[in-house]
Amino acid sequence: MPDHLLAIDQGTTSSRAIVFDRDAQPLATAQQEFAQHFPEDGWVEHDGEEIWSSTLKVCRQALENAGLKAQDIAAIGITNQRETTLLWDANSGELLHHAIVWQDRRTADYCAQLKADGHEAVVSAKTGLLIDPYFSGTKLRWLLDNVAGARERAERGELRFGTVDCFLLWRLTGGQVHRTDATNASRTLLFNIHTQQWDDELLRLFEIPASLLPEVMDSAAEFGISSPDLLGAAVPIRAIAGDQQAALIGQACFEPGMVKSTYGTGCFMVMNTGKTPVKSQNRLLTTVGYRLNGEVSYAIEGSIFVAGAAIQWLRDGLKLIQSAGDTEALAEQTGEQCGVYLVPAFTGLGAPYWDPKARGAIFGLTRDTGIGEIVTAGLQSVGFQTRDLLEAMTADGATSTAALRVDGGMVVNNWVVQALANILGVPVDRPQVTETTALGVAYLAGLQSGLFASLEDIARHWQCERHFTPQMSASQRDNLYRGWLDAVERVRRQA
Ligand code: G3P
Repeated sequence: MPDHLLAIDQGTTSSRAIVFDRDAQPLATAQQEFAQHFPEDGWVEHDGEEIWSSTLKVCRQALENAGLKAQDIAAIGITNQRETTLLWDANSGELLHHAIVWQDRRTADYCAQLKADGHEAVVSAKTGLLIDPYFSGTKLRWLLDNVAGARERAERGELRFGTVDCFLLWRLTGGQVHRTDATNASRTLLFNIHTQQWDDELLRLFEIPASLLPEVMDSAAEFGISSPDLLGAAVPIRAIAGDQQAALIGQACFEPGMVKSTYGTGCFMVMNTGKTPVKSQNRLLTTVGYRLNGEVSYAIEGSIFVAGAAIQWLRDGLKLIQSAGDTEALAEQTGEQCGVYLVPAFTGLGAPYWDPKARGAIFGLTRDTGIGEIVTAGLQSVGFQTRDLLEAMTADGATSTAALRVDGGMVVNNWVVQALANILGVPVDRPQVTETTALGVAYLAGLQSGLFASLEDIARHWQCERHFTPQMSASQRDNLYRGWLDAVERVRRQA
């Protein structure tokens, strides 16, 4: 009986595959970075063919690294960068355009117009989202209107739309299956999170033909079977979840009030709110946390566009450091009271400001400012933005449990996690497995395959590696944070 799980984690900067054993321990990993395209200010694209080829390659590589064959894999789970939008021909599978990435702001003016026309209340009530270029709906409309012939072909039923999960499923099944899951659907602006269906009124508003849309399934389901030629044998695909929702599962945040924050390219704080969708009064998102056996667990989410990407910029753009690992020692030497603030609004500001036209800035430079201060300010910007989210969640009356569970590439940096606990004034837990996104979708695939009995069974696997307690006085914390709020005010373009 095959009892291993293959998790595909298709992220914003790299494609990864991880093989887990039946105790949810990672056995082997493979990863490949791919090109980021920035054709204009605020535009971000990926080549969908590269997304596919890198994904296939890492799947093969991870199996080889684990010394396993496709026959040893009980199921594949797919987790993915969300909202990124692809459009392809239903017959040939050919993509019509580069993928428009979640960070892309090209539809900012259209979004502003929709808001000015008074559409936000109804969109928000149905989808739990706000009108912002972040989500797929306006990106898809842009493709239909700007790729020659696309709208006519869509109206003739010749095209398919998908987020990255859906596109990978299509390719993995040899163009046989056009499905997605409820977590990914809930990020499109087209899906009604209360009825769990594509919404006709929203399709009309965004001018999207229904024939483009995939079937929406539970997050653990029989999605399809991979073509045998791809991995050497056919493997069932039994789980799909957007990466932040997968991390919620990987962090075993199954009880209302439990909250996790993931630090990848961006930072996403997600709190489980149980069976009831909570409507934020503070510009956070209501979203599907997971849907299992037809039952939805909702979540409230704060999304920040730039976290790890700020460190990448310090390394590749400014060339202040050679590797992300250098930042820990630099920040330790510099200390938290360095007086410099870096607002990484490279692609606008996400929650709770939602200002697509804001751009980044560094404040507080003096003749003493050096690399250490700028790097430290970059690391601190991650903590400050998390505090913005926590403030908004608290103002929404969302009850938090004792500790925030963190994961993602950045949390290997002890200084970052300690500074986070300090600025939040709440304890932070780092789990033993920090690959929580892949782990979460492996859990779902295992659940569907009968390798895990229930969510309670999954929760028993979660283990804390290190508990960070705040070590800063309340007045220091508030002073530091006030400086951040002041810096943010100065980069905003929209009230
Ligand atoms: O909503 C965007 C998010 O899913 C991207 O996550 O990990 O690729 O930065 P990540």
